[in-house]
Amino acid sequence: MNIYSELSNGVKIPKLGFGTFRVQDGKQTIDAVRTALEIGYRHIDAASIYDNEESVGQGIKESGVPREEIFITSKVWNTDQGYQNTLNAFELSLKKLATDYLDLYLIHWPKELNKETWRALEKLYKDGRVRAIGVSNFKEHHLIDLMKNAEIKPMVNQVEFHPQLAQPELLKFCKENNIQVVAWGPLMQGQLNKFGLFKELSEKYNKTAAQIVLRWDIQQGVVTIPKSITPERIKSNADIFDFELTEEDMQKISMLNTGERIGPDPDKINF
Ligand SMILES: NC(=O)c1ccc[n+]([C@@H]2O[C@H](COP(=O)([O-])OP(=O)(O)OC[C@H]3O[C@@H](n4cnc5c(N)ncnc54)[C@H](OP(=O)(O)O)[C@@H]3O)[C@@H](O)[C@H]2O)c1
Repeated sequence: MNIYSELSNGVKIPKLGFGTFRVQDGKQTIDAVRTALEIGYRHIDAASIYDNEESVGQGIKESGVPREEIFITSKVWNTDQGYQNTLNAFELSLKKLATDYLDLYLIHWPKELNKETWRALEKLYKDGRVRAIGVSNFKEHHLIDLMKNAEIKPMVNQVEFHPQLAQPELLKFCKENNIQVVAWGPLMQGQLNKFGLFKELSEKYNKTAAQIVLRWDIQQGVVTIPKSITPERIKSNADIFDFELTEEDMQKISMLNTGERIGPDPDKINF
């Protein structure tokens, strides 16, 4: 399952990662992360705002998987933006995750202080504290604005991405600029069943709706990070590398796009 995509700086990111949002701090997070690593996931998506980084670190430790085999992402939260605050927040995330470097550090949401925050990420990158840097929830105009002053271009943009919000223009822009798109909420936070199409495709491929959608991500070059605390789902969500959707079925899924978000619109956030 550790099939990789290559970032613009040559760093390899596993195409399938494991999400940790809304996983309860403590035993639930420790167990979920350990289970995911035991099953074979090698990419963990964390964030300081999820308030469970220590447990993520503990789950990694308990799995026994060597640190260098795992791709760890974390994100600087909105209230920690700005140059010095970001450097401080980074150190705290490292400490909680019990690691001395990150594979990827992201600006969690676009805010007024993006540019100062980005300078801090550039410093961390140049100092070798993080192997890649990027952003999250950036629309095209946020990316253009950031790149105008940036010394280093973002290597990743992690955005809400699923059949209902397939973001074709943003995906095209990111591909043209060598920015890897990572899909958050790939399973529509558990609401895929609302589409009859997945029943039809499940029967055709003998795969679950979740597996079909995660495969749809990967086949269009999008890295995907589903979350589950249920061991059977953690396992089945990773079983997506032994089949291929036809171009026609890829299109059928893409046709479900209405542009409707589940999460906040990055231009209208009030947090
Ligand atoms: N950058 C950002 O702003 C941002 C925002 C949101 C999320 N994220 C990241 O992206 C990750 C994934 O997004 P998400 O957690 O919001 O949503 P998601 O992965 O789309 O969906 C998670 C939900 O789907 C359920 N689920 C998992 N596998 C399933 C399956 N095979 N069949 C049916 N239901 C299934 C889970 O239930 P159980 O857990 O009960 O199994 C959970 O309720 C997050 O965990 C986080 O790391 C980033």
